[in-house]
Amino acid sequence: MSLAVDVTGLRKVYGERAVLDGVDLQVRRGEFTALLGASGTGKTTLLRILAGIEGSDAGSVLVPRTRTVVFQEPRLVPSKRVVDNVVLGQGRGARPTGLAALAEVGLEDHALAWPATLSGGEAQRVALARALVREPDLLLLDEPFAALDALTRLTMQALIGDLVVKHRPAVVLVTHDVEEAIALADRVLVLRGGEFVTDVRVELDRPRDRGTADFAELRRSLLADLGVTV
Ligand SMILES: Nc1ncnc2c1ncn2[C@@H]1O[C@H](COP(=O)(O)OP(=O)(O)OP(=O)(O)O)[C@@H](O)[C@H]1O
Ligand SMILES: [Mg+2]
Repeated sequence: MSLAVDVTGLRKVYGERAVLDGVDLQVRRGEFTALLGASGTGKTTLLRILAGIEGSDAGSVLVPRTRTVVFQEPRLVPSKRVVDNVVLGQGRGARPTGLAALAEVGLEDHALAWPATLSGGEAQRVALARALVREPDLLLLDEPFAALDALTRLTMQALIGDLVVKHRPAVVLVTHDVEEAIALADRVLVLRGGEFVTDVRVELDRPRDRGTADFAELRRSLLADLGVTV
């Protein structure tokens, strides 16, 4: 089994409080993992540690060299055109690659637009193109669709589903949306009290039908793990 992520005994302390306390996480190459957890349980902290933006206080963290992140907000550079945001730091010679990535997210017509002229969903697709153009071995997604309206969110979920099948990075998706996790992931984990309390494999056929009894049962059980009873 070849691992993209191998985290053992991870601990992260802020002040007196251990936000992450003994986290173990193994993600295989090409595996799509979703992380659920109530607000403040340390999901973003874990993602930032995987991204290398933040350090840890104990434990070991092995991740691939090529990893990219999409945050809740697109974080585009306002003074650069869309295509130049996609190939940020790679020079104008990389524009053809950037155009191809924009085509994949359906935005080739906006290549020369300025970020400020994009809708929220479009900007987030640019952020996704920017993350994929580097062909990461690990794609980190921190609630990338949370700020979008429900319809755009469904479209974006389908797009992510298609793109990861094509590019096959390992994915760690942080989300509050239990249905999104079940619809997209191979595996769903729940973070609570500084560690993972649930780790379930989603055995439903793709594309996943949100209307089935199996889907509803998994949703109910994950919500219960999150402390919500319905
Ligand atoms: N730089 C920091 N300094 C001090 N405390 C921090 C820092 N970053 C995060 N925390 C605290 O760590 C805890 C976990 O934060 P984190 O952002 O990882 O939560 P989260 O699970 O992503 O929450 P949400 O679902 O609301 O995004 C929170 O209590 C937060 O206040
Ligand atoms: Mg967060």
